[in-house]
Amino acid sequence: LKGISNAPQPHRRHSSHGTPRQKRTPKRDHAWMDGSDDDDLEVKRSKKHASTPSKSSHNSDQPRKKPRLSAPAGKSSASSSKDPSLQKQRKELPIYTGKDAIVNIIRENDVTVLIGETGSGKTTQVPQYLLEAGLAGSGMIAVTQPRKVAATSLAARVAAEQGTSVGALVGYSVRFDEASSPETRIKYVTDGMLVRELLGDPLLSRYSVIIVDEAHERTLRTDLLIANLKTIQKARNAPTDAKGKGAAKLTPLKVVIMSATLEAEKFSKFYNNAPDSAKIVQPDYVDAALRTFFQIHTDRPQGDVLIFLPGQEDIESLEKSIQLYANQLPVDVPGVLICPMYAALPPSQQSKIFSPTPSGMRKCILATNIAETSITIPGIKYVIDTGKCKEKRYVARHAGSGYDTLLTRDITQSSAVQRAGRAGREGSGYCFRLYTEESFRKMPITAEPEIRRCTLTSSLLQLKCLGQDLEELDFMDKPDESTVASALKTLFLLGALDNRKALTPLGRQMAAFPLEPPLARALVASTEMGCTAEVLTIISVLSASSHLFVDTHDARDAAADARRKFRHLSGDHLTVLNVVRAYEEVAASESKAGRRDWCRKMFLNERCLSEAMNIRAQLRDVCARMDVDWKASAGDNEVPILKALVRGLVENTAFLQADGSYKQVMGSSIVKIHPSSSLADKKVPAIIFDELVYTTSVYARGVSAVPRSYIAEVPVFQARVG
Ligand code: CDP
Ligand code: MG
Repeated sequence: LKGISNAPQPHRRHSSHGTPRQKRTPKRDHAWMDGSDDDDLEVKRSKKHASTPSKSSHNSDQPRKKPRLSAPAGKSSASSSKDPSLQKQRKELPIYTGKDAIVNIIRENDVTVLIGETGSGKTTQVPQYLLEAGLAGSGMIAVTQPRKVAATSLAARVAAEQGTSVGALVGYSVRFDEASSPETRIKYVTDGMLVRELLGDPLLSRYSVIIVDEAHERTLRTDLLIANLKTIQKARNAPTDAKGKGAAKLTPLKVVIMSATLEAEKFSKFYNNAPDSAKIVQPDYVDAALRTFFQIHTDRPQGDVLIFLPGQEDIESLEKSIQLYANQLPVDVPGVLICPMYAALPPSQQSKIFSPTPSGMRKCILATNIAETSITIPGIKYVIDTGKCKEKRYVARHAGSGYDTLLTRDITQSSAVQRAGRAGREGSGYCFRLYTEESFRKMPITAEPEIRRCTLTSSLLQLKCLGQDLEELDFMDKPDESTVASALKTLFLLGALDNRKALTPLGRQMAAFPLEPPLARALVASTEMGCTAEVLTIISVLSASSHLFVDTHDARDAAADARRKFRHLSGDHLTVLNVVRAYEEVAASESKAGRRDWCRKMFLNERCLSEAMNIRAQLRDVCARMDVDWKASAGDNEVPILKALVRGLVENTAFLQADGSYKQVMGSSIVKIHPSSSLADKKVPAIIFDELVYTTSVYARGVSAVPRSYIAEVPVFQARVG
């Protein structure tokens, strides 16, 4: 625990009583804040829809009033109704003994760094301690999380500890989803959401405490936030200036940085516990994990097992094999309850991870690094660590062009220690590492921060809106020059920056939408072309966290037959539109079960559709607030729709070559149309696409055919294409 005082003397503290609440006059609404793009998991929150209108923050500049949402019967925010067993649990957490020290240090310092092991109670308890001690004054406490799923599940937990429903005293705000009310004092938010909130409120004046959690993860948005908090704190905590205006009216800001520890001792203890069999190099980590699991299951006393794997595909494949073998076990061996846990897991399947293991069973959790520090799963006795994870990484291609991709790579030493630490929180535990001591030593100590390895387009646009620049901001690690150059180029091509790198009015308009800049550009274009209704629908589906079409190996022909019904000649974007139109018709007349049935028959992913409908509703709200007519429709005329999409997908365009291949207009890669596309094997003069997939070749996915002239008429291309 480390207090860092910015000023030589402690600043005059803001009294927690009697000060009028800082009235907030937001320029924009932030109900739809940006979250991490690669982690769009929505956590189980059956309460959420009943209790928290997603538009709650529309009223955030109105006087505080009783929240519209009401706590479930028998529960209220009064402390008398707090669940006694939860209160007992709170007092048993390791952090409880340090409560007073933590509160005091935070009280006396502007910035506090708090390091504690995962599960010690940092994330759930510190905000409650600060609130109870009056340190939030009349403002809010924000707790940032790199992942959406962590923000929503933590809010649920802390709300339960406070005896209220989510969205009342304790809420959350993540991209496309918010549960909060004027009553909210503790808010779990994604780091990206808070960065986005800066656009409308550069001094984050609604908050009196900002807790930057999981700081060790060094996500791009955490880094951006930390860089900005320094400036904000300077402005807000400065002594009243001679003119007595400006920041003087604001309450001071407390910053708490929290992180999980790297405890060498603990690591070696767990490491020595690893059995010899785990020290043999296992190139096929999924197979090795399978065998290690059954060794544990048949030889070791009861206790749940947590297996760390790099991604969803590995999890699904291991799940199948464990199930297969588990079905053949002798009757005297306990049953296996398999629980997968990854970012895109449907909410309905998450609850069993946290619920107690049925007696006579062994729970086996197959997780990505989501279970490393963000989420604490109780009752784990054995950890199997494959030593692999997936990492988002920017791959530079030609000068100034590149893309982010997910690569499987070795974990860091710090992750290895965290993974081992997930075992035996309630007694002795074991970690089985499927790699050698030598490979451990070769692992990097910590991961490279995201800012050094991901595209910066979206962040650069946000910074430009704040009047800042990537090159000038005081970062812990400076971003790479080539990545900055590529972001600048993309924003220039989209018209968000002019040729002197200055923000254009168009760029500012784009930044108002919680979308990747290319999609935001298409949306803005649609407002000029009178097809906002259609473009909104298409980009909502593209922004959903899962694919629309179910990929089935078993019923490929049937799936293709079903898909044909929706096919549009121009390709995948208008096919998506046809699917949504059909879905809306079904949804209007059918029950929930009927809808699900229809989706199954049509080989459509209902989760994607319902998520897209939710995203679309949020985007419509943003449009309405910007005086954009989201109902403007082009009907069955695809011309304006495709033209609007071209504006956003300027970098994702390719022309047919004489030899039948497609060559990118920007850059010179040869791309093929992905087999999943409705245009697979077709030869059309020009294509636009949503993304490139790099497997054996470079594939364009989400493809539409457009006349070359649509591309040629984009102003920025006129010199190039002619
Ligand atoms: O942040 P830190 O890792 O230090 O711990 P935390 O997230 O505050 O979790 C403290 C304890 O709360 C965990 O050990 C869990 O037992 C419990 N918890 C829970 O039961 N359900 C949650 N959704 C979150 C935490
Ligand atoms: Mg935590």
